[in-house]
Amino acid sequence: MRMYDIIQTKKQGNELSDKEIKYFVKGITDGSIPDYQISALLMAICLNGMTEHETFLLTEEMMHSGEVVDLSAFGNNTVDKHSTGGVGDKTTLIVAPIVAACGYLVPKMSGRGLGHTGGTLDKLESIPCFKTELTSSEFSSAVETCGMAVISQTANIAPADKKLYALRDVTATVDSVPLIASSVMSKKLASGAQNIVLDVTMGSGAFIKDLDSARKIAKLMVAIGKAAGRNTAAFITNMDVPLGYAIGNSLEVIEAVSLLKGEKIEDLKEVCISLAAGMIALVSNKDINTAKTIAAEALDSGRALEQFKRWINAQGGDNAFTEDFSLLPHAKLVFEYRAKSDGYIASMNTEIVGKASAVLGAGRTVQGESVDLSAGIKLLKKTGDCCHSGEVIALLYTSASERADSSSELLDAAIVFSNTAPAEQPVIYEYID
Ligand code: URA
Repeated sequence: MRMYDIIQTKKQGNELSDKEIKYFVKGITDGSIPDYQISALLMAICLNGMTEHETFLLTEEMMHSGEVVDLSAFGNNTVDKHSTGGVGDKTTLIVAPIVAACGYLVPKMSGRGLGHTGGTLDKLESIPCFKTELTSSEFSSAVETCGMAVISQTANIAPADKKLYALRDVTATVDSVPLIASSVMSKKLASGAQNIVLDVTMGSGAFIKDLDSARKIAKLMVAIGKAAGRNTAAFITNMDVPLGYAIGNSLEVIEAVSLLKGEKIEDLKEVCISLAAGMIALVSNKDINTAKTIAAEALDSGRALEQFKRWINAQGGDNAFTEDFSLLPHAKLVFEYRAKSDGYIASMNTEIVGKASAVLGAGRTVQGESVDLSAGIKLLKKTGDCCHSGEVIALLYTSASERADSSSELLDAAIVFSNTAPAEQPVIYEYID
């Protein structure tokens, strides 16, 4: 079999055989196929797509390219969630404690932020002494004793996806329905949970920009999960506006704890309750509305906050910061960003807002770069809010004033003002199960 012929087949828009897909994934994993041939096939897939059968097989092969975590000792009680990425997305820090507080087990592997999107691991690393690298037995024991654990995805989970994802990131081949679906699902299936809820983000701050593609990806991922014998459901959520008001690692931890303590942060609360309800509905077989009531009770009663504190301790962290946020990393400098005109904020290009946070130091442009855990943006106004020219609408947290200048220029480009109020947007578009 020759990689040249496989590329040619897909370039001509034809279906790859099972043998060809297996050969491709094996060659990625053992390093025998050079990056330029992998990239050429990725571009052909991006342009010509894949059939459902090809996508299922690609997922299965990538899932088995490394370790497959065995959580069968926990029976049907395990539930995981995954977001396709966004700006200000701190939902794991809230949703996992809600679900664990309801008695279900949340064993979760998370990743780092890249480009304009944030990653849960970076957020967790801003918590004093918190350990994101646990051995398999420490992971299982944290899940058993505390009901949840969130750790760094080990190098050996779906290594073929890791390699593909790094190449996709630099070859403009991220935005492909079969490539996103197989990438996400290979990791989720390998991570072992029996129930999986997917948060398919859609809008200017997400990889998926339109509802039609979001629906296709969500349905495909749900079908892949079910075909693999896992209960799977998906939400399509709004990422045309940053989620909540904080963007950046320690800032987002503060916002997550504030919500757990009862602060009103409407959009963030709605997404978290929905995702938690989706997880509870899958794992318990309850209907989604009953599950919403259960999730809301766990949050509003403070049980989720107590669960959060137990979890931080279980992974070696010091939970004193929940009572004193000054114990988290805090930025040397804070700059005010002011509105450029009177009127309503008509829209915010959320990808550019994410980049504006990244240039302050909160994000990385290449894998492996270190981030400033204290850097980021606190929005005071968002899409739909009214403001006056010169009013402070965001605070920029950073360690260097030139970073604040670059960030402000990006925000100038991202935020559009109008004399009329924009139409209200839903926070959740669809639930697919
Ligand atoms: N998240 C992933 O894990 N993979 C993708 O392809 C896109 C988002």
